Amino acid sequence: MALFNKTKEELLPEQFPEHIAFIMDGNGRWAKKRGLPRKFGHREGAKTFKKITRYCKDIGIKNITFYAFSTENWKRPEDEVSAIIELFREYIVDVRNYIGEEVRVLFLGDKTIFDDDLQKKMNDLEEDTKDYNKMTMLLAINYGGRDEIVHAAKILSEQVKRGEIQPDEITEDMFQKYLYTADVPDVDLMIRPSGELRLSNFLIWQSAYAEFYFTDVLWPDFSPNELDKALIEFGKRSRRFGGV
Ligand code: FPP
Repeated sequence: MALFNKTKEELLPEQFPEHIAFIMDGNGRWAKKRGLPRKFGHREGAKTFKKITRYCKDIGIKNITFYAFSTENWKRPEDEVSAIIELFREYIVDVRNYIGEEVRVLFLGDKTIFDDDLQKKMNDLEEDTKDYNKMTMLLAINYGGRDEIVHAAKILSEQVKRGEIQPDEITEDMFQKYLYTADVPDVDLMIRPSGELRLSNFLIWQSAYAEFYFTDVLWPDFSPNELDKALIEFGKRSRRFGGV
């Protein structure tokens, strides 16, 4: 067919990753370039989050994780922090619409820092969507990869203290069950826009064998077409998981 879109033609669903993680970076620079306060960049970034979630569901990606707020982001100016938390509050209401779409929602990170109302909304959403399997959407908020590993270590230490397990019985699989991601498969494709080449404490356990895709595009400008490019690149990578 003459009208075939070349990009679409090269997308091979059988090569799609099981789990894509996104570091939503570059919101501040996007706003600065337009002479706007940083929070406008976050607002635009949240729209991209929604657009990309929809697109991933449409093309059949099974697990997607977004880095919305890290344990280190509290160091930012107070008005920026509260703008992000307010956006999150708005979007959590919006995310409830995914219930109709059979998307399971999980929050990664320490929820206890948030007020009771927000914690309840997060817990309710997880509970109400727990049996859905069309797609799992994970949102990392007040999340840190090292913090997650320490959290899992504490749970296992308590079990050892109670004599339920012996230290030498601890396996990687057992450890993994106490990560916030629990039954979600490891990350296959980690996408970081905005030209930064770092993991920034995001899913450090789960990305042990992830393929990385970096682009200079700022997150608010990241589009389904950009994701297609990442998927095509992913399809060309040869993954050996330590073998030959
Ligand atoms: C990183 O860009 C972005 C963040 C720390 C916040 C991301 C938050 C959102 C997209 C909105 C809230 C999320 C949801 C799901 C409602 P940056 O500020 O570091 O950008 P810069 O590197 O250009 O300064």
